[in-house]
Amino acid sequence: MAVPENFDVAHLGPVELLTPSFDESLWFFRDLLAMREVARIGDSAYLRTWDEYQLYTVKLTATDAAGVGRTSFRASSRDALERRVAAIEATGLGDGWTDGEVGTGPTFLFRDPDGHAMAVYYETDRYVATDDRPALKNQASAFPGRGVNARRLDHINYLAKDVEACGAFVADALGMRESERIRLDNGRFAAWWFHFGLKSYDVVYSDDWTRHGNRLHHIAFAPDTREDILKAADIFLENGIHIESGPHKHAINQTFFLYVWEPGGNRIEFANAGARLLLDPDQPVVEWSEQERRKGQAWGMKTIESFHTHGTPVV
Ligand SMILES: [Fe+2]
Repeated sequence: MAVPENFDVAHLGPVELLTPSFDESLWFFRDLLAMREVARIGDSAYLRTWDEYQLYTVKLTATDAAGVGRTSFRASSRDALERRVAAIEATGLGDGWTDGEVGTGPTFLFRDPDGHAMAVYYETDRYVATDDRPALKNQASAFPGRGVNARRLDHINYLAKDVEACGAFVADALGMRESERIRLDNGRFAAWWFHFGLKSYDVVYSDDWTRHGNRLHHIAFAPDTREDILKAADIFLENGIHIESGPHKHAINQTFFLYVWEPGGNRIEFANAGARLLLDPDQPVVEWSEQERRKGQAWGMKTIESFHTHGTPVV
């Protein structure tokens, strides 16, 4: 796979989550994660994490079924945006330009081969804190000091009918670089990790056993420390949130993790993923075998069965 010399896409931008339990999901993100609602348009609430430099991080939309709506990616420059749009159009999966929403400029819409709605943009308004001004000017807003204090969105993990096709798509269309992958004994990839910058992953594709298409495995938020994740588990326990797995440490990319299901049914991860940076421009992809995966996660905990079966929408 060709390795881009620089990254045309800077990072994962806002993600739209769909929920059949809007009020309960809003409580989860606003009250338990300490996110701030910055806009309400139609059936959607726009929410930001406290160190989000843009206006919003998650668009929460009331729908009949849980799942993921549109995932946005911020290009690194106007020229980079044009290059990515040309690359996306060459795949035949482009859907055209639209006006951005809530602070984002012109946005090009497209879909991955699995049907996940995506968008790429460059122009974006920066958040201006008012009653939540931080003490330090190198921070987007004041530390909320309540609940789980989700600092920023870290990554998204999609379920896909064809992991190889989707991985090849984000490499070609978005210029992503692969970091790690699981290859099954039958030669196919069970999951494939991709990154935009120094972080070891930003987008992941996992094999969807149901072959449904357009499903979400999880989105992940990053707190500062492992201790924050342990405290998050206590907060979710106190508030009746389903804890699915963890806290534990992933073998792949070594992330310390906790998985819960928000009230709408979407899997949400809290992941301390910043420890492993890929500084090496020639970083070889790390491939894990089926046998290695049977050893479980880093400290031996076996991967929970629902991790292979639960996704949203539920099918
Ligand atoms: Fe994850």
